[in-house]
Amino acid sequence: MADLGYDGKVAIITGAGGGLGREHALLVASRGAQVVINDLGGSVSGEGGDAGPAQKVAEEINGLGGVAVADGNSVSTPEGGEAIVKTAVDNFGRVDILINNAGILRDKTFHNMTPDLLNPVLDVHLKGAFYVTRPAWIKMREQSYGRVVNTSSNSGILGNFGQANYGAAKMGLVGFTRVLAAEGAKYNIKANAIAPVAKTRMTEDLLGAVGDKLDPKLVSPIVAWLAHEDCPVTGEIYSAAGGRIARMFIGLTQGYYSPKLSVEEVRDHFDQIRSEEGYIVPSGPGDELALLLKQLS
Ligand code: NAI
Repeated sequence: MADLGYDGKVAIITGAGGGLGREHALLVASRGAQVVINDLGGSVSGEGGDAGPAQKVAEEINGLGGVAVADGNSVSTPEGGEAIVKTAVDNFGRVDILINNAGILRDKTFHNMTPDLLNPVLDVHLKGAFYVTRPAWIKMREQSYGRVVNTSSNSGILGNFGQANYGAAKMGLVGFTRVLAAEGAKYNIKANAIAPVAKTRMTEDLLGAVGDKLDPKLVSPIVAWLAHEDCPVTGEIYSAAGGRIARMFIGLTQGYYSPKLSVEEVRDHFDQIRSEEGYIVPSGPGDELALLLKQLS
């Protein structure tokens, strides 16, 4: 089969001044996409700002024969989101691919978590994705084409100690992705999410020796596939680390039904309620409703 390309496609990658975002940008740019390298250039915890990292990656791509422009706006405000999309439209005329990747960390155990640790994390990850996607979405709807890839995390999907703020934001992105998938379907807009693990400045102190096997470059192929025209799926989540790709999904057990349900029945049938035998993977609320109606009738 032929290699996958992105000729004529315009991609925005947020937080692409380093780490995972830089790798995603290098890959799609090497395959023909014109790219906007967005990055605020702050610290891991989101302090400060520097136009340098985005500029450097854009120069690197242009030096390799690709086409890239740098953008130093923050994803964390509606104005920033508008400005990032404007950079794409002013330079390249359209937006086909949006990879929401920008992120920060402010970890603390929950009992020590204060609003200054919560709000910036929600602002960058969750609201940031919202703020950049919305103006991009308007363009994607107009052109009846778009691919959105959101960066979630096993910290939210599975729950990781000390990351109540980050986990809430990252699981919020799963809900966001699934709603985008539902709303984008009739406009040929697909939205999927990844849960990566990779050695970057964000994780190098946490991963230990195994980090050397977790090159961020190995996460980019799934991102590029989800961003490709031929991508067959929408509303899904993929775990990606060190060259291994797997699908993560939300399942619903067959459950237990009683027309006069009591708390004692819940207690007495709790094993059945929890049993994974015959579980379904609903693609939307309609599948859950269909299961319910079958049991009610
Ligand atoms: P990184 O720190 O190298 O990259 C994040 C980038 O986002 C930085 O370059 C930073 O300047 C930029 N950024 C932060 N706030 C911004 C804002 N307001 N506007 C624009 N850019 C902003 O870290 P890494 O690991 O590459 O992270 C990329 C994404 O992957 C993040 O969303 C992170 O939460 C997620 N992730 C990473 C994992 C890993 O193992 N490295 C695990 C799970 C998720």
